[in-house]
Amino acid sequence: MEIKAVILAAGKGTRMKSAMPKVLHEIMGKALLGYVLDAAGALVSESFVIVGYQAQQVEAYVKGTAHAVFQSPQLGTGDAVSKVCPFLKDYNGLVLILCGDTPLITAQTLKKFAAFHKEQGADLTVMSAVLDDPAGYGRIVRENGKLKAIVEEKDASPEIKAIKEVNAGIYLLDWAKIKLAFAHLTSNNAQGEYYLTYLVDWAKNKAAFVLENNEEMFGINSRAHLAQAAKIMNHRTLEKLMDNGVTIVDPDSAWISQDTEIGEDTVIYPSTYIEGENKIGKNCKIGPFAHLRGGVGIADNVRIGNFVEVKNSKIGSDTNAGHLSYIGDSEIGSHVNIGAGTITANYNPITHVKSRTVLKDHVKTGSNSVLVAPVTVEQGANIGAGSVITKDIPARALALTRAALKIVENWVKG
Ligand code: UD1
Ligand code: CA
Repeated sequence: MEIKAVILAAGKGTRMKSAMPKVLHEIMGKALLGYVLDAAGALVSESFVIVGYQAQQVEAYVKGTAHAVFQSPQLGTGDAVSKVCPFLKDYNGLVLILCGDTPLITAQTLKKFAAFHKEQGADLTVMSAVLDDPAGYGRIVRENGKLKAIVEEKDASPEIKAIKEVNAGIYLLDWAKIKLAFAHLTSNNAQGEYYLTYLVDWAKNKAAFVLENNEEMFGINSRAHLAQAAKIMNHRTLEKLMDNGVTIVDPDSAWISQDTEIGEDTVIYPSTYIEGENKIGKNCKIGPFAHLRGGVGIADNVRIGNFVEVKNSKIGSDTNAGHLSYIGDSEIGSHVNIGAGTITANYNPITHVKSRTVLKDHVKTGSNSVLVAPVTVEQGANIGAGSVITKDIPARALALTRAALKIVENWVKG
């Protein structure tokens, strides 16, 4: 059955103490909301993001990926989801509801959740988790083992507060059956909000799916949470890479984004930071202290050494950039040697234009050379150390821009 997603992202996130909407805070170069959209994207045909606080920024972020639906004022989670009703009038499929601030939810779990919903023949399924400390969450009330209601902490009696099974804030609804409930939501509760959890009272066939790994429902409310979530996500990514045959010398200091693919026998040395989307080949050596900033494609047997930063560039096989370089917006061939301190000057701060640097196969750049883009160095050409290259260089030429060496003998008296 078709599934569409509704992602709640209208709240301010007061505890972040930020001018930026909470869901746009980033982990390894990707917004929290981006992780949720990507996880949902694995099973939904279309996504709606409920925006409110700093709506324009969130709307700009989701443009091309999801529809932004405005909610103001923010009267509660039920009110938030009700805003999609006009867009889903004749829709007969399922609606998956998620929060934009839970970046650790995985596509795999969402697929299991959807399969469970189907198996149960439910009209509404909620995702739950059993926590040692359930404080602050809505509690899952069951009767004879079956989901009966969700009660918010602020509305709960001591008996209900003692329940350790909580609402993870993720739901699947059979839209045609449940949509009618939105017209009947009330705000008759301790917070005076239109609770989404009231849908549970309305649904006839309902079920609760217990999360296997509680980390997945981790919601970000503060900078400390952001750091914790990043750590959890990174460890998950590193474990997966190691399972796939990548050596991570120090999993405590290497940071690799979820969207980075790495081939077998590549070694990632300590204190390497890789953000964004990248593809690294087999048998490469990356780091220590390397920084890949996204849009990077590296072929096999490549070495990216210490204090080398690479952004939006392709690097061919058997190429070395061993020390102290910046490679941005570049296309580097194979068997290229990038000398220590080589810099691609890709950005013109006056025109604000970024240009490309092309180094063909077997090029060698001397130490401390600057390649002022746009510039192409043809196959096999050499750049002398300390040169500033502002014109294209023909194949197999030597390009040198430094002043001739002058030696003044007996300069020092005595
Ligand atoms: C909600 C659930 C609670 C669950 C918890 C899980 C309700 C009533 N309660 O509580 O049972 O245990 O999530 O994290 O749903 N939002 C909007 N518009 C609004 C209100 C909220 O977009 O009008 C967004 C917020 O930005 C946030 C999310 O919805 O991302 C959750 O809202 P919040 O009020 O924080 O709900 P909780 O109190 O956490
Ligand atoms: Ca609340």
